[in-house]
Amino acid sequence: MTPPSGSTNPLRDPQDRRLPRIAGPSGLVLFGVTGDLSRKKVMPAIYDLANRGLLPPGFSLVGFARRDWADQDFAQIVHDAVKEHARTPFREEVWKQLSEGFRFVPGNFDDDVAFDNLRRTVEELDQLRGTGGNMAFYLAIPPAFFGTVVGQLEEHGLADGTADHWRRVVVEKPFGHDLASARELNDVLAGVFEPDEIFRIDHYLGKETVQNILAMRFANNMFEPIWNSNYVDHVQITMAEDIGIGGRAGYYDGIGAARDVIQNHLLQLMALVAMEEPIAFDAESLRLEKQKVLASAVLPRRLDTTTARGQYAAGWQGGEKVIGFLDEEGIATTSATETFAAITVEVETRRWAGVPFYLRTGKRLGRRVTEVAVVFKRAPHLPFTSTATEELTQNALVIRVQPDEGLTMRFGSKVPGTAMEIRDVNMDFAYGGSFTEASAEAYERLILDVLLGDPPLFPQHEEVELSWKLLDPVIEHWAKKGKPDTYDAGTWGPPSADAMLARSGRTWRRP
Ligand code: BG6
Repeated sequence: MTPPSGSTNPLRDPQDRRLPRIAGPSGLVLFGVTGDLSRKKVMPAIYDLANRGLLPPGFSLVGFARRDWADQDFAQIVHDAVKEHARTPFREEVWKQLSEGFRFVPGNFDDDVAFDNLRRTVEELDQLRGTGGNMAFYLAIPPAFFGTVVGQLEEHGLADGTADHWRRVVVEKPFGHDLASARELNDVLAGVFEPDEIFRIDHYLGKETVQNILAMRFANNMFEPIWNSNYVDHVQITMAEDIGIGGRAGYYDGIGAARDVIQNHLLQLMALVAMEEPIAFDAESLRLEKQKVLASAVLPRRLDTTTARGQYAAGWQGGEKVIGFLDEEGIATTSATETFAAITVEVETRRWAGVPFYLRTGKRLGRRVTEVAVVFKRAPHLPFTSTATEELTQNALVIRVQPDEGLTMRFGSKVPGTAMEIRDVNMDFAYGGSFTEASAEAYERLILDVLLGDPPLFPQHEEVELSWKLLDPVIEHWAKKGKPDTYDAGTWGPPSADAMLARSGRTWRRP
């Protein structure tokens, strides 16, 4: 009998990840409780985790903000957020147990008394709820305040992880606005916390479909042999949104689409698509392979023709008239911030030499969709008449990250009939059709991983640096050129984006 090939090696994955992963005694201190991120993502995710039985019974949540609130006021805020945004049904008994562990500490970030109170609260929770002193500090606040807050945590004895209890800090992007500021930010964090105590959230890595890129590539034998420049023509990574900037002018203006999305989500997606097989599925091995991709990624020489950027003008979206970016509340009429960005990246490795990676993102585009399309070269020879293959385009494998999660394979097939006519068809895998359980929200997975101290899904500082290193020249180039092009809301970006691909005879997919 042939021995089974491709067997798994238990030594390579010391934690059996099929077992339910349940957090041990712990709590979380949330800074920035009034922000969108806390209300829409963090609070609902904590409830959903509790509802799924993945939090310890004594789990505690402490809110810290400049508000004159009592514990009940904070509980009401969390309650409203959960009711509006949680993924799983509201269950009174789950809520009751969870909310008994809610505390609120009022104060400014530079207020010593408030941080003394915070320390006392953390100690009390340890006594009352058995958190074991294990606390994660979640900074859902603008990066400008990171320094003050982590400084206070250190000064007030809150950042002192020991062999008996852990302390972790969770930070959200933007990790700086360029390479230099990212380094400064890292110095601030690294001055107080050890590298393995710092959890940087890139919520795309918490998405099931994004994790599935690695399963698809490395658990199967049919994709990897063609996953290289011999077969792949180019790769398109699209993250399109139909929404505008909403109430986020303060954050978005001056940041723009490239810093907001390409620097983190899209370059991480690219790294997962392009990386070599890791020797194990642990954080160190994964990061190492992603880092190699980012370190070998370069921009083409001519940035004016290989990048594109735009700003949405008024237009129609979903049958509704919407305003342009410059008319949004809080945006200066002279703003040069881009709401659409596209770049070309070349990965200089044997596997990818000559295969462009096109990355694009934008607000107010045709529809909300994130996908990775691996587009293959044409067959070297077509033994048909040219009319038979007129409607045949290139084979493609499309990883549908969201919505409508799944995978599409596009290839040519004979149209039934007496003549030989070949046309593109799609073969489809949809999560909904294969799995009964709905995917968890990215934040559920990531918060659980923080509480478990499980780091594979969190980018390390080196990856952040390499991503800025790649992107900085593009942003500098655009800054020199002044205002971006415009595109009508509801379309797929400015004409310059189409021109960027048309130069090499390629076109963007219309997802
Ligand atoms: C965030 C960006 O990281 O991702 C937002 O800052 C964007 O601008 C959001 O809207 C999109 O996330 P998702 O999960 O809805 O694709």
